[in-house]
Amino acid sequence: MINEKLEAAFNDQINKELYSEYLYLAMKIYFKEQNLQGFVNWFDVQVQEEHAHAMGMFDYLDERGGKIVLEAIDKPEVKGNDILSIFEQVLEHEEYVTSRINHLADVADETKDRAALNFLNWYIKEQVEEEANVGGLLATLRLIGDDKKALLMLDKELAARTFVQPVIG
Ligand code: FEO
Repeated sequence: MINEKLEAAFNDQINKELYSEYLYLAMKIYFKEQNLQGFVNWFDVQVQEEHAHAMGMFDYLDERGGKIVLEAIDKPEVKGNDILSIFEQVLEHEEYVTSRINHLADVADETKDRAALNFLNWYIKEQVEEEANVGGLLATLRLIGDDKKALLMLDKELAARTFVQPVIG
């Protein structure tokens, strides 16, 4: 049976992963409006990944005999109105998610739940990848600047991104 404090922390993180899904869905609207279909695809994959992250925790909490409690998902707030600021927000958001995953791992540690810590290792590694991917994309966007041709080339590249159902845990 899972400790109550850890159970609450897992429920909170399920909500945050669902919020991430919602935020990326909101960001996708901007790229649809710009008719940048490769970016739209990139956000589509991002949305599916966040859903998988939430469901991974949902299933794990259930497997551990915890009670799943779904709270309201906050309204997503897309701060910027240009590509660069949107991706700056993506990186900022992923860094925030990393801090929340680390907090969850701290609670698992505190409650001496080695199984949960082992499970969370997947998320810790995933966050390293998420931050590196977004950081790389952001660097490319900075390089591109106002070059529309280069932006369209990147858009083509992003159209090739595909979602792979992760094996979590
Ligand atoms: Fe679920 Fe993008 O971290």
